[in-house]
Amino acid sequence: MKNRASIYFIVFALLSLMLGVLFGMLASLQYLFPEFLKEVIPFNKMRPYHVTSVLSWIVLGATGSIYFYLTRIEKLKLFSPKMVMVHFITFLVVGLIIYISFFLGEMQGREYLAYSPLLTIPILLGWFLFGLNYFKTLVNKVSNWPVYYWMWGTGIVFMIFHLIEAHLWVFPYFKESVIKDLSVQWKSYGSFIGSWNMLVYGLAIYLMSKIKDDENVARGKLVFFFYFLGLVNLMFGWAHHTYIIPMQPWIRVVAYIISMTEWVILAHIILTWKRSLNQEQKVESSMSYRFLVTADFWVFLNLFLALLLSIPAINFFTHGTHITVAHSMGTTIGINTTILLASVFFIVSKLNPEFNVNRFLIQKGYLLFKISLLLFWILLLVAGIKKSHWMYFSENVLFSEMQENLHLVYAGILVFGIGLTMSIIMLAVPLLKNLIVRRK
Ligand code: HEM
Repeated sequence: MKNRASIYFIVFALLSLMLGVLFGMLASLQYLFPEFLKEVIPFNKMRPYHVTSVLSWIVLGATGSIYFYLTRIEKLKLFSPKMVMVHFITFLVVGLIIYISFFLGEMQGREYLAYSPLLTIPILLGWFLFGLNYFKTLVNKVSNWPVYYWMWGTGIVFMIFHLIEAHLWVFPYFKESVIKDLSVQWKSYGSFIGSWNMLVYGLAIYLMSKIKDDENVARGKLVFFFYFLGLVNLMFGWAHHTYIIPMQPWIRVVAYIISMTEWVILAHIILTWKRSLNQEQKVESSMSYRFLVTADFWVFLNLFLALLLSIPAINFFTHGTHITVAHSMGTTIGINTTILLASVFFIVSKLNPEFNVNRFLIQKGYLLFKISLLLFWILLLVAGIKKSHWMYFSENVLFSEMQENLHLVYAGILVFGIGLTMSIIMLAVPLLKNLIVRRK
């Protein structure tokens, strides 16, 4: 086997995903029963455990897929296979340290990056090795890059930049000024998300071109326009993350328009691709095809929600409610996770063409995933609307009363969250089995 490290990345990505959804399920149990597991892992720890695990799934899944495609499908000679292994071991060790440090209550970081800022140093080293290996493998070796090579390269470079930026708050110059601190923190998060989107959307275009067996999917004017729009979005589309900071309204409006157009074009690319496939191509890559179509559906749903959220009068009422959570989970599950699952299914089918995608577990898992995600998302929106109503339109209603009123909605979130968790496990276990068995 040429480059096992790419498989290791994907195996650990799937393990992180399964752990992540289990933490998410426990966190939603704590919505209903705040005392549940409070002594061992209270909600303020459960949430970072969940978010760190699912974000690791996105990063490891995208990284492993890129390494795999470069070496196994494109048959490129990696500049340094050893570097991939060092990259993998670095991320693995840092991941373990993060889990242990959360347990010990070491959570000096912020929001999505709740771990100690010191751990960012080895994480940056991993990204640097990835970037060096990537560009040394491709530059001057491959000419006339299709769009996905540009997207992956851009994603890696900007990831390094914004990871550094997201930690500028450790310096007193930023830390001591609330406005500077908030601006840099949320601006960097917006761009940081834009960077992993570059990696993941690049994978979507790669998969579409391979499933259709047509390089033109990744070469037309429209996909390059999409790439530049994504780049502009990555650099300037963060304004909706900084709504609490005073700024000129036009900056926010421009940023919104950019982020909306990006989604419209992605949805259009997937839709056009879907229509251009013949039945044989659809059947041959059936699970990857289905997950890409599901991603398209979620692009539309999130577009609709984001359009609503972009109306200032609505945005004001949604801040600090589950509507924001619906937006972030809707995109990270509905778009990122579906594209990554499409990628992992594609990889497993390349490793093992006999992999039986019609297996009962996978078919049922896919159906359960679609249904429970939709209902889970709708209920998050309902919880958000109810909370917003309490925050702005109810008088003399205590927080505890509002929580009591939300009990049924929280129960629904738990039920469909369990459905979602089960579906992901039903999909991930057969994939893992295939990846691990192949390694022997
Ligand atoms: C691939 C699967 C998943 C991904 C990518 C994901 C992603 C996320 C993200 C990004 C957040 C942070 C939200 C924010 O700060 O706005 C979050 C929070 C959360 N997620 Fe998930 N999630 C996944 C699955 C689940 C599942 C299956 C459940 C429940 C069974 C769940 C329950 C929660 C809860 C309770 C929170 C905390 C929300 C709060 O702060 O009140 N998640 N998730």
